[in-house]
Amino acid sequence: MTTNTQTTHSHWSSRFAFILAATGSAVGLGNIWKFPYITGENGGGAFVVVYLACVLLIGIPIMIAETMLGRRGQRNPIETMEMLTEEAQADKNWHYLGWMGVIAGVLILSYYSVIAGWASAYVLKAFTGNFFDADATAIQTLFENFVASPMQLIFWHSLFMSATMWIVARGVNNGLEKSVRFLIPSLFVLLILLVGYAMTTDSYQRGLDFMFNLDFSKLTRTSVLTAMGHAFFTLSLGMGAIMVYGAYLPKNVSIAKTAYLVAAADTVVALLAGVAIFPLVFEHGLHPASGAGLIFQTLPIAFGNMTGGWFIGILFFVLLVFAALSSSISLIEPAVAWLVENKNFSREKACVWTGLGTWFLGLGTVFSFNIWKDVLFFERTIFQLLDYITSNLMLPIGGFCIAVFAGWIMKREHTESELEMPCKPSYTLWRALIRYVAPASIFLVFLHVIGVL
Ligand code: PHE
Repeated sequence: MTTNTQTTHSHWSSRFAFILAATGSAVGLGNIWKFPYITGENGGGAFVVVYLACVLLIGIPIMIAETMLGRRGQRNPIETMEMLTEEAQADKNWHYLGWMGVIAGVLILSYYSVIAGWASAYVLKAFTGNFFDADATAIQTLFENFVASPMQLIFWHSLFMSATMWIVARGVNNGLEKSVRFLIPSLFVLLILLVGYAMTTDSYQRGLDFMFNLDFSKLTRTSVLTAMGHAFFTLSLGMGAIMVYGAYLPKNVSIAKTAYLVAAADTVVALLAGVAIFPLVFEHGLHPASGAGLIFQTLPIAFGNMTGGWFIGILFFVLLVFAALSSSISLIEPAVAWLVENKNFSREKACVWTGLGTWFLGLGTVFSFNIWKDVLFFERTIFQLLDYITSNLMLPIGGFCIAVFAGWIMKREHTESELEMPCKPSYTLWRALIRYVAPASIFLVFLHVIGVL
């Protein structure tokens, strides 16, 4: 009896640990900062529906596949891919999948850290009472002055990068993952409070209409790609983050159920953020397509005018920074793990080098909001270009390869025994999604964006 309880308990806590780590990686700036502003830029409801469809039909099956690859490989993404390629006697070029993930992680972190730096700066702004009684114009000016200063952005970017690398170097990820246990529920509560505040404005219905009204004529070719890319970004898929975490998942845990839970939590946080923000946008005559500053120009108005707003504002930005930290450690972990395991770097040395490199790349993003804001490549600033290349190209391509590898290259017996789904139909469904639906959808979206469809 005692043994039984212990076994059950240890399984539970390991599954729970994975759920925490994966949710920590998934829930981050992508949900609270990025989802609202790209929804605003891409016309609202129709974009949201495409994003949700991508989460369901592409994201969840790929999350199951990526976790499974990690658990079977038991190593960092590069070595996992090497091992699995050997096991399936497949072409050596599959190794590059691990490589692309490592590079994508570094590129994403370079701008992620700059934005997380903004969130950190806003903790201080909230604390010093900057939002108190402020109207929309004051909040907008505050934001514009802030991003116009390269020195301030560099300072906060450096601080956030150092915190990330410190955590990764000391291997204290565990502590951070445990804090996700409080983090996510607290974020939920705060977002619900903010939705409550949005409900008190006259524009609540207008905000909801914007987010859920289906007007497909507003969708451009690129919007469809952006929605799909965001499904990958927000679920941390296509670059090995979930693969690394999958490697720590005990054998007897249901991968599928875990993936549903993580995807559900991630989606709810994003939708709540949207519902909290859009009513404020309309209420204060702001433009939904204001870009990357959207949450920084809207939420402080709520904090400045609601009861208890001073405290809630501080807490909100603190939680946002922590949510960003638990995502950023998973962005850099594949690169660090590879340097440590393959290049004999000590963990500290690997962190110093990847950290410095990523920090340096981040300067491009810092300057794209001020001194280089008119420097455009393909009509995009450096930040927008980095975001486009990583979220819209590298992650979906990575995801496509993961789907093809799990569905076509790995042996059926292997995937079936690894996934151990409770009933045959769910395995068959997953297999159909991963072999046909997910890769074909990604492919069609690419054809659509280049104008073939
Ligand atoms: N999913 C994270 C977010 O939404 C970002 C992320 C992307 C993390 C890819 C890891 C890998 O903020």
